[in-house]
Amino acid sequence: MKFKQTLLLAALTLAANGVAIADKPVVDAKLKAQVDKIIALSFLPGENQDLSRLKQDETLQTCNQYRDNVPEKMAAAIMEREAKAIKYPADGKLMGDWKTGEKYYKMGFAYRIGTVEPDKADKDRGGNCYACHSADPKEVAFGTIGPGLTGYGKLRGSGDDIVKYTYEKIYNAQAYNACSQMPRLGHNGILTPEKIAHITAFLVSPDSPVNK
Ligand code: HEC
Repeated sequence: MKFKQTLLLAALTLAANGVAIADKPVVDAKLKAQVDKIIALSFLPGENQDLSRLKQDETLQTCNQYRDNVPEKMAAAIMEREAKAIKYPADGKLMGDWKTGEKYYKMGFAYRIGTVEPDKADKDRGGNCYACHSADPKEVAFGTIGPGLTGYGKLRGSGDDIVKYTYEKIYNAQAYNACSQMPRLGHNGILTPEKIAHITAFLVSPDSPVNK
């Protein structure tokens, strides 16, 4: 009996410690502030620089403090906050034109902190999706940081749920995965809701080369 109680006590102590450790940021706040400062100082002031891109919002700060491994409750709070901020196209259509979507899936011009050349006047930005994902099987130059998306719509169908999930995931990846490595393309103003609807069609539409 006594042995059992001791075991139980040991288990409870372990569990309590486990929670305490997991709830504490793993990155020292002072050290983080120093590193952030050094990074900011490394950009020499000059033309065409947008240092506002270095500012971290609450979500990014939390993910950084925990090296992307945030406790469950915080992850839920992040996903809820990010999901609430999702905006949709004015006409409510989450499926646009896949051909236009293909253009923006490919286009690598997005936001940057410093540029050698000034931004194009029309600031037509793309998602640079091929940097991390495959898509059209004919495209051979793609990165593999994210999962392959070839056959995306063929595998999942093109129902309303899939369309909505795809649109929202592209708008704000962190609404579904608290500390995702995928940029928050709509949230951060890199892609407009309309462009995201076109890209959604590129991934989901049965007519798109992604699904041929
Ligand atoms: C810097 C790399 C990166 C870029 C750029 C990027 N992604 Fe991702 N993406 C990821 C990673 C990593 C995941 C997996 C983790 C997750 O789901 O959050 C992912 C997940 C996804 C998913 C979910 C896949 C699934 O199985 O449900 C979709 C859809 C997606 N990305 C589409 C896009 C599109 C479209 C673009 C361009 C507009 C894009 N991504 C740009 C890294 C990236």
